[in-house]
Amino acid sequence: MKRYIPLALILGISLSASAQDKKIEKKIDSVLKLMTLDEKIGQLNQYTGDRDATGPITNNPNKLKDIRDGKLGSMLNVRGAKETREVQEVAMQSRMKIPLIFGLDVIHGYRVTFPIPLAEAASWDMAEIENGARVAARETAASGVHWTFAPMVDIARDPRWGRVMEGAGEDTYLGSKIAFARVKGFQGKGLGNLDAVMACAKHFAAYGAAIAGRDYNAVDMSEHTLWETYLPPFKAAVDAGAATFMNSFNTLNGIPATGNSYLQRDILKGQWKYQGFVVSDWGSIGEMIAHGYAKDKEQAAELAIKAGSDMDMESRSYLPSLAKLVADKKVPVALIDDAVRRILRKKFELGLFDDPYRFSNVARQEKEINSAENRKASLTMAEKSIVLLKNEKEVLPLSKNFKKIAVIGPLGKSEKDMQGFWSIAWDKDNLVSLYQGLKNKVGNQTELLYAKGCELSDSSKTGFAEAVEVAKQADVVVMAVGEAFDMSGEAKSRANIHIPGVQEDLIKAVQATGKPVVVLVMAGRPLIFNWTADNVPAIMYTWWLGSEAGNAMANVLYGDYNPSGKLPMTFPRDEGQIPLYYNYLSTGRPAKNDKDTRYRSAYLDMPNSPKFAFGYGLSYTTFDYSGLTLSKTQIKPDEKITVSFTLKNTGKYAGEEVVQLYLQDKFASVVRPVKELKDFQKVMLKAGESKTITFNIDKEKLSFYNQQLKWAAEAGDFKLMIGTASNNIKLEKDFTLLN
Ligand code: BGC
Repeated sequence: MKRYIPLALILGISLSASAQDKKIEKKIDSVLKLMTLDEKIGQLNQYTGDRDATGPITNNPNKLKDIRDGKLGSMLNVRGAKETREVQEVAMQSRMKIPLIFGLDVIHGYRVTFPIPLAEAASWDMAEIENGARVAARETAASGVHWTFAPMVDIARDPRWGRVMEGAGEDTYLGSKIAFARVKGFQGKGLGNLDAVMACAKHFAAYGAAIAGRDYNAVDMSEHTLWETYLPPFKAAVDAGAATFMNSFNTLNGIPATGNSYLQRDILKGQWKYQGFVVSDWGSIGEMIAHGYAKDKEQAAELAIKAGSDMDMESRSYLPSLAKLVADKKVPVALIDDAVRRILRKKFELGLFDDPYRFSNVARQEKEINSAENRKASLTMAEKSIVLLKNEKEVLPLSKNFKKIAVIGPLGKSEKDMQGFWSIAWDKDNLVSLYQGLKNKVGNQTELLYAKGCELSDSSKTGFAEAVEVAKQADVVVMAVGEAFDMSGEAKSRANIHIPGVQEDLIKAVQATGKPVVVLVMAGRPLIFNWTADNVPAIMYTWWLGSEAGNAMANVLYGDYNPSGKLPMTFPRDEGQIPLYYNYLSTGRPAKNDKDTRYRSAYLDMPNSPKFAFGYGLSYTTFDYSGLTLSKTQIKPDEKITVSFTLKNTGKYAGEEVVQLYLQDKFASVVRPVKELKDFQKVMLKAGESKTITFNIDKEKLSFYNQQLKWAAEAGDFKLMIGTASNNIKLEKDFTLLN
């Protein structure tokens, strides 16, 4: 797949631009003309700040010297209005005075932490997700940072992979919508505005398909799966205007993504005509040596720049190698110019050439960050991210008449874990634990009891006796179990994704008291907890919900917010089923049900079905689906079908339902999935209210990558399914696409 496109084409792409952009292109020309080759190479170099024991970057003489010498285009992990100004002042001492771009992993909130991205995805609420990114962008930009390394738009079908927490889950359609919303949220009304930061769609590409869910592992994938499942969220990010891309650590079919010309040149900068720049992942250019793809840093630099990686994050391969590669005529200077142009373009768009300090404004920072309004947005997002998995005997919402509530479990009073892995640490942060959230809610009306019971990964049960005693005194027990913040995230793959330690035994012990038990599972990935799922009457999946976690959980527990989340990833029964996802391809021997194993595509020792399916999630109310009608049951390629049906809230509470539309192409030139999400709506209904819901189906929704890898619809029969979850289809009808 090592294909190189002609230089002229690369330059041609860089030059095509609208009138406004042409002005910027001229400015870039004038800057580029004045730059030495070394200064150009400097623009492609990115270092991290040293926010650890050595203090901020301002204490590191070597890095400061490199900035002054024009050897740096960008820094990551430098933040705060004061610090960014100090470092930018050093860049202004360089000969060319080209401002630095400051980047940071603002993955789910900057000062106010939002729910982890996988949790936000469970809201299926695009406006709220966009707003979450908007708030994060406002806080980030006000702190002098121009660039977030988000959104991560990697499709993830393997919950062993710790980075599932950073993405939108397993589905391409939902993931693409979320990718679009997040980019829009970060970039707001566009670069140059003081509340907009550059988005970075990552990790390009297929990083989420690491073999066996082991982070950084190789990826081996068909072109079909790449195009159909893994690339669309990246394309959505391009369509939303994502300013930058990050490549990935993995190999794809034997070629490291960082050195992959097919991905970066042919697809991204070629077919998709992408004008932004590509930053490597941390050290990924140098890691091509460990991959066995490059013999040394010099060759790694050559392969990476030729493949379209514009900026070297922390592998320090470009700086020492590119000038020699140019002198040796191994790398044409036009390739370096193209990369520099892409980076300078963003610096112009951000307005940094007009005023390099425009984002580093202490007064604006004070005003923007950690405001009550921002915390409110995080709370709303957190409420919407919670998924109600089970609610038998109407244990929930909790009765206001309960006099004593026991909070039991290792996460009951945890604050830090609520932030999740990719959050930014702050002194004197105000994080709300479950216990504190309940306290805020019930005041002095209700007594709160507490017992930890065990540690998260404990093998000791010595705390159980106390927990059981506390449970016995209460009217209801709310249990807080799950993962610590550093059990899901980068390099946090786990082969065993059962609830860790003896936590499930603690649940059993407490349940044995006969008290009503509500289990809240707080985690960064789908976990396995079969006993709990089968025996405990009420279960909520709360992920890691961010700064306002406890308040959000309390609101949902008491019914002040009626849960509306739906799982964005399949929850398996056992690790042995992984990868398990709802939109698997039809097989020649499908099992009719979970017991049908004789010469079927099935396991002898376990059902095929998951414990909780993609799209599943309950509400305190109930919904009825009826009266499906299709405006036509046969359409020509230029026609569309209007689908309508009635959704009724048949329960006692107002609530929101995520109505899901799935399609199956029954016979095609390439075998199709058993069903694919193709649309959804989140609908609010008062108790007893009905609404007519409509969707449109057109050729685009029926298209897929055919045998020639061309996006096209094929004439034939389709099944339309409307459901409340991927495994709970309420209405269905067939229709035909004519030639
Ligand atoms: C991660 C990226 C992240 C980068 C910078 C890498 O290890 O894979 O997602 O943006 O570090 O922190």
